[in-house]
Amino acid sequence: MDQDSQAKLSRRKVFVKSYGCQMNAYDATRMIDVLAPEGFEETQDMSEADLVVLNTCHIRERSAEKVYSELGKVKLLKQERARSGLATTVAVAGCVAQAEGAEIIRRQASVDIVVGPQNYHRLPELLQKSRDHSLIDTDFPVEDKFNHLTPPATTKTMSRGVTSFLTVQEGCDKFCTFCVVPYTRGAETSRPVRQIVNEAQNLVAAGVREITLLGQNVNAYHGLDEAGAICSLAELVGKLSEIRDLSRIRYMTSHPRDMNDDLIQAHVDNHKLMPFLHLPVQSGSDRILKAMNRKHDARFYVDLVSRIRQSRSDIALSSDFIVGFPGETEADFQATLDLISEVNFSSSYFFKYSVRSGTPGAEMDDQVPEAVKSERLARLQYLVDAQRHAFNESSVGKVTDVLFEKRGRHSGQLVGKTPYLQTVQVDATEDAIGQVHRVCITGTSTNTLFGSLADRSLGQE
Ligand code: 5AD
Ligand code: SF4
Repeated sequence: MDQDSQAKLSRRKVFVKSYGCQMNAYDATRMIDVLAPEGFEETQDMSEADLVVLNTCHIRERSAEKVYSELGKVKLLKQERARSGLATTVAVAGCVAQAEGAEIIRRQASVDIVVGPQNYHRLPELLQKSRDHSLIDTDFPVEDKFNHLTPPATTKTMSRGVTSFLTVQEGCDKFCTFCVVPYTRGAETSRPVRQIVNEAQNLVAAGVREITLLGQNVNAYHGLDEAGAICSLAELVGKLSEIRDLSRIRYMTSHPRDMNDDLIQAHVDNHKLMPFLHLPVQSGSDRILKAMNRKHDARFYVDLVSRIRQSRSDIALSSDFIVGFPGETEADFQATLDLISEVNFSSSYFFKYSVRSGTPGAEMDDQVPEAVKSERLARLQYLVDAQRHAFNESSVGKVTDVLFEKRGRHSGQLVGKTPYLQTVQVDATEDAIGQVHRVCITGTSTNTLFGSLADRSLGQE
């Protein structure tokens, strides 16, 4: 047996730490899958890892800086392991890798591999080559990485639980002026329908019951079907819903401009498509929306929401907001608060504007002082929290479907999700994991609902 085959057979451990969005979480699982045939087993303990991968996020300055502070720790660990005669390979993947490339190795020489989000299918090859010198692989490849990724073993999928992400679309052509995504993830591309359906079928065969379709602009999905015709997200959802044991389908993140009528109608016609929509608006001020290059105004968004609600009145909406975009005045911020009050979100995410070099926003005059951003963020948080509490309170006393996902903190308790993505804790036996049951919501605390089985047969007597 040659050295390479021996190395493949010897068991090695990989530790992957993922930052940022769900797409990164999905990529992290696929990296583990691609490394499995090379003899790598996943570990949650960085100190025993032969390969450490940091799967990074570049969306805000703070996310990118976290990588360098973590790399300082990884370097010490690598030195400590070396003293015990153990080699450690350090790889930086994800969007910081794409954006910073060689700069990472310049700032932290212990890094062996820098690999972009479109290139991680080449990790086995990069590992081989990095034995001699450090490597950077951030070119956008001509081949489609999805054609080169190893599917996970069924047992591996089973260990990951009954819900799963599935990336269907990547990249973005919208070029919002604050955002690095079009530069780090590249142009918008959609995976072909067959590839997605195959992946979904494998997930479901291994016990997955809920799939969240992912994309930076997921509702712009336009993959090709087997006949070579363009398939919309609504059509893709239709095909996936034919998988018998798949109970629930979700998708995120959507852009208001791509929220087409067929997708809205799918929320009416397709009972597997959950009544929850993450539809970021970012700001309620037309002036700021224009400066952000969001390609729509506040009225367009509010009208879209009312059209969606006319079709499906119970749909729960969430959004992202940025406070302190360059030039944002108190009046602009007030317009954001007004929009939030008018729309009424079930939950929202909010961020202080973070200057990202290379984006048009970074060149804009009139950057907003940090203190003003902080003050506005606190006011926005107050309103958004109040809406989330009110939404959760409104669930109390209602009976709703819950998909049970895992054991709860206490024995005899399971944790699941409502159709509206609320977490619920319920007393029920473990055989209900992966099943959808009717649950009566009995109470709520800050982040979770409490409920009891409407169908008592599964509960603890
Ligand atoms: N500063 C702050 N927030 C940002 N986001 C994207 N870029 C920036 C930035 N430069 C937020 C947007 C987006 C979410 C994923 O991150 O709200 O929807
Ligand atoms: Fe970034 Fe805008 Fe594209 Fe979303 S739509 S990924 S915020 S550029």
